[in-house]
Amino acid sequence: MLNIVILAAGKGTRMHSDLPKVLHALAGKPLLQHVMDTSMSLTPGKTCVVYGHGGEIVPKTMSQYPASFVLQEPQLGTGHAVQQAMPELQDNSTTLILYGDVPLIQKATLQKLLQNPEHLNLLTLTMKNPSGYGRIIRDKMDKVSSIIEEKDATKEQRAVTEINTGILSAPTHLLRNWLNSLKNNNAQGEYYLTDIVAMAVSEGIEVSTSQPDHDWEVMGINSKVQLAELERIWQSEQALRLLQQGVTLADPQRIDIRGKLICARDVEIDVGCIFEGEVTLGNRVKVGAYTVIKSSNIDAGVQIAPFSHIESSNVGNNSIIGPYARLRPGTKLHNDVHIGNFVEVKNSEIASGSKANHLSYIGDTSIGSRVNVGAGTITCNYDGANKHRTIIEDDVFIGSDTQLVAPVTVKRGSTIGAGSTITKEAPENALTLSRAKQVTITGWQRPAKKPK
Ligand code: UD1
Ligand code: MG
Repeated sequence: MLNIVILAAGKGTRMHSDLPKVLHALAGKPLLQHVMDTSMSLTPGKTCVVYGHGGEIVPKTMSQYPASFVLQEPQLGTGHAVQQAMPELQDNSTTLILYGDVPLIQKATLQKLLQNPEHLNLLTLTMKNPSGYGRIIRDKMDKVSSIIEEKDATKEQRAVTEINTGILSAPTHLLRNWLNSLKNNNAQGEYYLTDIVAMAVSEGIEVSTSQPDHDWEVMGINSKVQLAELERIWQSEQALRLLQQGVTLADPQRIDIRGKLICARDVEIDVGCIFEGEVTLGNRVKVGAYTVIKSSNIDAGVQIAPFSHIESSNVGNNSIIGPYARLRPGTKLHNDVHIGNFVEVKNSEIASGSKANHLSYIGDTSIGSRVNVGAGTITCNYDGANKHRTIIEDDVFIGSDTQLVAPVTVKRGSTIGAGSTITKEAPENALTLSRAKQVTITGWQRPAKKPK
């Protein structure tokens, strides 16, 4: 069985922020949540997060996860941090140690690390510039003998380029014993987790090493600079995956995915688009520049023109959206629907072949098939206290600049004259309008300027 301990007690002084470091977002999600999600994908028997003083917000923010949270106060080093979690762990398990500020560790790398659960397994990396990291010290037979922190290292040891990423696993009962014997007689006066390596070696426990599939998986965050760097690396990585799947990206450096983007075949995405939550794009979907799509399904053949905003909506096959369209939560468009510039749709269903191409608000509305909603049409859905529905049946033509005061129904095949305010049901196949008759006053004079 697997137990996971996530260290997240560090102050994060260099973030210069009131928010605990591990709650800063990468790709729209708190750093710690990335680690939590990866942890959960390994189906651990127990997960324990070690958080720091003043960070009550950490357990609160992560309350949806089946994990326990222990406070480490004061913070006396990584070994001391893991000690805090030990009462939560199961003896007949393997414990994996992860870090709340190393967000992008991937499942495949961890599975590789955990292949021999009876060993002490270290995730290591060879770096051109290893400064600041603990060094992996090996004997003549190339077996790991210890980890030495940079501040405690000799000149010779500092020359070693294989570093400790911090991520490791060990049989829980051994880890428990080793942690109980830690001392803090070192350069930093801390209880080093890394000291367990020499203990394992002296007890004849096998120490194995493996490496991450990508260097970015083990990059830690200490500052906004590092956060921004890792964000770009992660975005590039996601863009690369899309390109490899056959998606056309106008510029792979100018797309941001803050969640999960699932693309079918021959999708094209122009520059500056942001995808949040889970978004699916069907075959041949084209997304115009600077479009923001959150938690939505866009079906095959849809074209979205630039600067459109779509949230919690479904867009049916071959529909045409934008430019400057806004689909708010609860929008369901069937096939071949056109929503044009400066049209806002909320909590509404629009059936096939219907169009609202210019300057409209459609809220809490059901629109049938083949309806034309003229420019400037407004559904007046809110009376100041409650929201009401507007029903527009099939084959209706709504003239421009119409107000539909809900609750109201426009029956099948009816035509509404431009500039009407409709407050009562409009009957089938008739022309309904509510406009004053046009009059002409002959001989009327425009006012003239008074002489000074
Ligand atoms: C640690 C390792 C070092 C490794 C490096 C990788 C030790 C002694 N050293 O060094 O070998 O190369 O990480 O980045 O383990 N933390 C707590 N409580 C504490 C101290 C730390 O929760 O009391 C957490 C921090 O929030 C951080 C992580 O543990 O997420 C590592 O702590 P940090 O002080 O950055 O470790 P280093 O000294 O850099
Ligand atoms: Mg430290």
